Amino acid sequence: MSTDNLSHVWFKVTDLEVASGEGSWVTTTSGDRYLDFSGGIAVTSTGHSHPHVTKAIADQAQRFVHAQANVYTHDLMQPLAARLAELSPAGIDTFFYANSGAEITEAAVKLAKQATGRPNIIVFQGSFHGRTHQAMAMTTSKTVYRAGHAPLPSGIFIAPYPNVRADDVQAEVARALAGFDELLTSVTAPSETAAVIIEPVLGEGGYVAAPAGFLEEIDRRCKQHGMLFIADEVQSGFGRTGKMFAIEHFDVQPDIVCMAKGIASGFPFSALGTRRELDDKWPTGSHGGTYGGNPMGCAAALATIEVLTADGFMANVNERGRQLADGLRRLQEHHDAIVQVRALGLMIAAQFDTAARTSAIVSHCLREGNLITMTAGAAGTTLRFMPPLTVTSEEITIALAALDKALVEAA
Ligand SMILES: Cc1ncc(COP(=O)(O)O)c(C=O)c1O
Repeated sequence: MSTDNLSHVWFKVTDLEVASGEGSWVTTTSGDRYLDFSGGIAVTSTGHSHPHVTKAIADQAQRFVHAQANVYTHDLMQPLAARLAELSPAGIDTFFYANSGAEITEAAVKLAKQATGRPNIIVFQGSFHGRTHQAMAMTTSKTVYRAGHAPLPSGIFIAPYPNVRADDVQAEVARALAGFDELLTSVTAPSETAAVIIEPVLGEGGYVAAPAGFLEEIDRRCKQHGMLFIADEVQSGFGRTGKMFAIEHFDVQPDIVCMAKGIASGFPFSALGTRRELDDKWPTGSHGGTYGGNPMGCAAALATIEVLTADGFMANVNERGRQLADGLRRLQEHHDAIVQVRALGLMIAAQFDTAARTSAIVSHCLREGNLITMTAGAAGTTLRFMPPLTVTSEEITIALAALDKALVEAA
């Protein structure tokens, strides 16, 4: 099909035109099936078109499609907030809804500025927080996201992130913390710093989990100086790392949690979670949006959460994550091209030696193995795997076989 009337601004991972999706698979308009280990960029938490989720959306569409949150509330908004409060990190009990990740990171910054009365935000090198102007200004995972869009909003300061590929990672943690402290003494005083925003596992930046002690030390500084800790869980949340939120892997108490992607299995929906006392400082009317809290989105999120919290679901995420990571490590033993395997649940990366090799492997997997994968990171050397959390053992085996073949034939 011609795409002449579509914008070229979207970068393309594949040229496939998809007609349907089921579980971990998509079928193209020409009838070919592909194993989708992109998961719609870590969105299809329950797989493509999970029957429980599609039924909830369809049933809700029969009742009403839109119920504007300023005009009235509807009967799924509070139940979803109550459920999110049960699942969220301690103290997070109050929720605002929007439609995308960028809108939620923006909302988090707006709340932080108003709750603290402070103007500045600290972000970390290699982060991705979205594509709106504020979110772009907070994003340093690749220059293409920012290039040509200046001027970007000011008041954003970039702290170093530990290099997890260094021999001495703890020395890297110390270096990054020293850089953070220097930022506070020489660039943005704590009294001017509203919040720190961080992905517990860098997503677009290359699937890098924060090394031991780093987040805890950042959180300690936040508490000491009254700066808010914002966990951007847009990519890492909703079971992706084998826990409901990635921040649960760390001993940290976030003040604000940004949620999107996996929350509603692909229906555009996002949520900001915070503490009631912070939300009370957000002046009524100072934020909002036409579609936030959309009833079909709430229905999709509630149904998604039912699937994610069913008995044995998270155990499968962890088992499949181990299976894929172990398989990649076995491949690493035979292929020097793989220099590091990083894994937390089903947020898994294989780091290669060169960008050319990584891209050859992505193409080979697609062409010969009908396997969809994506890269991450500025250098283009990280292959990331983010299959649906419902992925089966057989599907992991198929993906590993396709990768093994690609390593032999394309690398
Ligand atoms: C950590 C993180 N934050 C924010 C975003 C932006 O989300 P969206 O593309 O829904 O605006 C993304 C998207 O990849 C992300 O990974």
